[in-house]
Amino acid sequence: MEKMTVRDIEVSGKRVLVRVDFNVPLDEETGTITDDSRIQATLPTIRYLVRRKARVILISHLGRPRGKVVDKLRLTVVAQRLSQILGQQVGIAVDCVGLEVEKSVESLKSGDVLLLENIRFHPEEEENNAAFAQALAHLADVYVNDAFGAAHRAHASTVGITNYLPAVAGLLLEKELKTLGGILTNPAHPFAMLIGGAKVSDKIGMIENVLDKVDSLLVGGGMAATFLKARSYEVGQSLVEEDKLDLTVRLMADMERRGVSFLLPVDVVIADALGAEANTKTASVADIPPQWRIVDIGPQTIENFSQGLQGCKTVFWNGPMGIYEIPQFAAGTKAMARSLAGLKATTVIGGGSTAEIVIDMGLAGRMTFVSTGGGASLRFLSSKVLPGVEALRDKKSS
Ligand code: 3PG
Ligand code: MG
Repeated sequence: MEKMTVRDIEVSGKRVLVRVDFNVPLDEETGTITDDSRIQATLPTIRYLVRRKARVILISHLGRPRGKVVDKLRLTVVAQRLSQILGQQVGIAVDCVGLEVEKSVESLKSGDVLLLENIRFHPEEEENNAAFAQALAHLADVYVNDAFGAAHRAHASTVGITNYLPAVAGLLLEKELKTLGGILTNPAHPFAMLIGGAKVSDKIGMIENVLDKVDSLLVGGGMAATFLKARSYEVGQSLVEEDKLDLTVRLMADMERRGVSFLLPVDVVIADALGAEANTKTASVADIPPQWRIVDIGPQTIENFSQGLQGCKTVFWNGPMGIYEIPQFAAGTKAMARSLAGLKATTVIGGGSTAEIVIDMGLAGRMTFVSTGGGASLRFLSSKVLPGVEALRDKKSS
């Protein structure tokens, strides 16, 4: 069911509480924002509301302070950055509920924007506490959820609050649902999925859900080891999810039956230890010594995967091809990012680390869409309910 959006309600002069996902990466030493894409992504909704003279109250989490005030996770830097890119002063409240905050909200004029302090400083947020949700709701007339990245969490600011205010989707949330939903319901074919990352268990729901939609599936990253093992290759010290071996065998049989083209690495970069100082070499997957482990896909695999994506009309990518945090093991991931960027196709990048890589490489603008949700996009593509979306008002059928 399609959800009502901020366009479907009256917002002028209203106090509009917008849940955003400003959970941005911070530099550990300086505390500065290293990537502001998630802030940029909410600009359409904020500008829409400002133009219509709403009084805009933003609420977000940052990191995982676990119900306590953690000074390093204050949203002050976020308010500053948002002020800069919005070109208007964004105030920061002392907290997200309570008398002081109510006063700050009271003093907002039409078109003003106020950011409340990190909502996860209160344990009641993650508990989805009803009284806390009500206290939040008390600040506003209307609730807008634009936090796609947190839509898989059933928290007070994503779900509880919708019991007390008219609740609709923001423009980013709408765009995420349209784009990812389009991949599930109406992808242009051929449609390929490139999957990586550490574990099969993280991605299995999504893979199973798309088997009847994709024309090809390409698997790299740590999780390829479990597939290789299921094909009787020895993978040395690589992590194998023993309890997923049967499942991967079944999946591969299923793909064969359906005629889904399935590509696994044929060569890999292997290392004799995990750190940057390890010895490394390229080996055929048939030739991995017992004391070595897979850390990246090899050059022939890069070639095969890139070829496999040529001519595709839709490509979705989630998960690095190796341990990309270590520069020596990042070549496969970077090569695939460049390969996607060069395609004449709808290219959609899952959020989380895959989005970070693409943004880091300066390639985000060459992709059709980079999702702002990691866990949320995986869950959505598994056709599982996102509680934060479910809770919003349905669009009336016309
Ligand atoms: C994210 O970055 O994945 C979202 O902001 C959700 O954060 P969480 O995983 O801490 O709930
Ligand atoms: Mg997460």
